[in-house]
Amino acid sequence: MPETIRIGIIGSGGIARAHASAYKKLSNLEIVAVADSIEGKAQAFIDQEQLHAAAAFDDHRKLLELELDGVSVCTPNFAHHETSVNALNAGKHVLVEKPMSVTLDQSIDMVAAAKRSGKMLTVGFQPRYDPNMSLIKEIVQSGQLGKVYFVETGGGRRRGMPGGTFISKELAGAGAMADIGCYSLDMALNALGYPKPLTVSAYTSNYFGTNPKYHREADCFEVEDFGVAMIRLEGDIVLNYKISWAMHMDTLGATMFLGTDAGLKVTPAGSGPWSGVWDGSVGSMSLFHDVAGQNTQTTVPVIQHGLNLFDEKVKDFAAAIRDNRPAPIDGAEILYNQAIIDGVLRSAATKREVTIELPE
Ligand SMILES: NC(=O)c1ccc[n+]([C@@H]2O[C@H](COP(=O)([O-])OP(=O)(O)OC[C@H]3O[C@@H](n4cnc5c(N)ncnc54)[C@H](O)[C@@H]3O)[C@@H](O)[C@H]2O)c1
Repeated sequence: MPETIRIGIIGSGGIARAHASAYKKLSNLEIVAVADSIEGKAQAFIDQEQLHAAAAFDDHRKLLELELDGVSVCTPNFAHHETSVNALNAGKHVLVEKPMSVTLDQSIDMVAAAKRSGKMLTVGFQPRYDPNMSLIKEIVQSGQLGKVYFVETGGGRRRGMPGGTFISKELAGAGAMADIGCYSLDMALNALGYPKPLTVSAYTSNYFGTNPKYHREADCFEVEDFGVAMIRLEGDIVLNYKISWAMHMDTLGATMFLGTDAGLKVTPAGSGPWSGVWDGSVGSMSLFHDVAGQNTQTTVPVIQHGLNLFDEKVKDFAAAIRDNRPAPIDGAEILYNQAIIDGVLRSAATKREVTIELPE
């Protein structure tokens, strides 16, 4: 167990600030280096975040030459693979931002690197630390629903399309389906115990992103702003998944788990510009079941919490390093999440159901 955990941050843009802020709240932990491929950006980050003892690098490989326990990978999606694999090969634990990678092959490679190195690869899904997400999982796993055969998950934004690297096919991989969809998938799959995905039939569109009326970078908008998919999961479970970055609608509806003994419905806290239950905004939770032959609806109290979920995920990564625990959100499991996103893109492109092939 290291006395002081030594951390490096790769990529010093927006989300790196949430990582730095969380790390700074932890005792016996030091951010010793920051790397950003844009010259001068890492040093500016160090100055702004007052990480005065930290070294700045333009090349993440130089950062990895240092003695570090773990790194936060906060680059755009396209660089998650290279930086994470290099970090794991250099013997560092990795907390990589979501989505895990651009392609499924990259995620497979990242998981293999983690296995080879014996270091953890954990993925930055902070909604996992929302107690309501744990409650959903507890209810689903308790068996109260009987056999779960249908799950609906999704949500999204009425308006909320990012720009820059997020809308480039090469740099982001996918649009809404990966960017915010990965959270929604994680909520459903985690509650179910991450069953293996088998097939995907998907539709995606980008009517909003490519319209200059709605997006100032419409000319270079290459990804989907809306998508819907039916996914067959191992265990005879069907997952209906829908996500939007932009739409003429207030919400894409509730999350639900249908079982042979009961159903669980979780509604978003509000409709409007943002609505999902995986983004810390659970509005209500109800169990639908029979009592003495009567259709019954029981309210499950939503847990009010004041947690900063970003802080919680970073804290758990640091604690896992300190306690020599396995990855809190294991890359090997999140591979299934990335496989679905990959399947969505393939199916939408071919307008056919596709099979998901995964290594044994
Ligand atoms: N968990 C969340 O809620 C959340 C929120 C926003 C973004 N993200 C994810 O975080 C990642 C970064 O998003 P962002 O908004 O901070 O992007 P950003 O563009 O603000 O910052 C990314 C930084 O990485 C740098 N970079 C690019 N390639 C690099 C490389 N090879 N080595 C070192 N630095 C490199 C860029 O120069 C940039 O400064 C994305 O994957 C995104 O999906 C997660």
